[in-house]
Amino acid sequence: MEVLARLVLGLVLFEAAVTAPTLQPINYDLDNYAADTMEALDNLYNYENIPLGHAEVEIATMMPSGIRELLTPAPQPEEGEEEEEEESTPRLIDGSSPQEPEFIGVLGPHTNEDFPTCLLCTCISTTVYCDDHELDAIPPLPKNTAYFYSRFNRIKKINRNDFASLNDLRRIDLTSNLISEIDEDAFRKLPQLHELILRDNRIRQLPELPTTLTFIDISNNRLGRKGIKQEAFKDMYELRHLYLTDNNLDHIPLPLPENLRALHLQNNNILEMHEDTFCNMKNLTYIRKALEDIRLDGNPINLSKTPQAYLCLPRLPVGSLV
Ligand SMILES: *[C@@H]1O[C@H](CO)[C@@H](O)[C@H](O)[C@H]1NC(C)=O
Ligand SMILES: *[C@@H]1O[C@H](CO)[C@@H](O)[C@H](O)[C@H]1NC(C)=O
Repeated sequence: MEVLARLVLGLVLFEAAVTAPTLQPINYDLDNYAADTMEALDNLYNYENIPLGHAEVEIATMMPSGIRELLTPAPQPEEGEEEEEEESTPRLIDGSSPQEPEFIGVLGPHTNEDFPTCLLCTCISTTVYCDDHELDAIPPLPKNTAYFYSRFNRIKKINRNDFASLNDLRRIDLTSNLISEIDEDAFRKLPQLHELILRDNRIRQLPELPTTLTFIDISNNRLGRKGIKQEAFKDMYELRHLYLTDNNLDHIPLPLPENLRALHLQNNNILEMHEDTFCNMKNLTYIRKALEDIRLDGNPINLSKTPQAYLCLPRLPVGSLV
């Protein structure tokens, strides 16, 4: 039962990975966002927090009908067998059929199944799914990998060659490893990287990041005072979500890109900000309309001291206003 639930979760996760532009786990506190269908996917993305039985019921109702049908005839996998999980993964007989264009990308031909890493991890189309495999390094990845998940492992370091020439890589999720060191050019040359999730690690220094990123989560690491370079996010014109909670940061990383929607900095050591941190005191008609979700709670900062600092924002930051 558990294995089946995990299989179903894996598929839906994968579906989400391919179709959803950005996934926001529930602990990103979406209180400022309109609750929409994404919320269900958010929960899935963070599925380790959901009791499995419960998750299965919910997923069954929200699964795209095509996948549900594909799943129904699949044989029941045996308890605790990782290989079984792979074997029962539904496949299309002819992935290049023009009939169902949606599924070509999702459950397309398994071109990577002979790749060594895919014998250990699960590879479906361009997603490599290596969660919870006691890995202590990034495994070699197929050239066409677009989505790479390796959460809940023991990876300590990211080397410059780990992601070399993976030109299609769009998402890297290394949540809950032991990463303390990242080579400066480990991510730099990834032309398609949109989402980088490194939360719950031991990172002290952020390397250079590609400007294509739309979603960055480095929460619960050890960035401290010096872990983020000057103007690190300045040229990230597509960046929408920046999550840096629980890092002992002592400043707000500036400048913030114009399209940023969510900035989460709770539980750091930020003591002050300036009237110009978000707005432009030289131009009072300037409005930073995208930035609707700022979290500064859990910092020793008194937001009441800079009343001018929020004039250009659509919403007040969350934090101490006493
Ligand atoms: C002030 O900001 C507004 C809105 O962003 C812009 O259209 C205008 O050109 C700016 N004025 C100056 C003097 O920079
Ligand atoms: C926060 O700042 C305001 C305005 O300067 C001040 O009146 C208030 O006493 C401060 N609160 C604390 C807890 O320091």
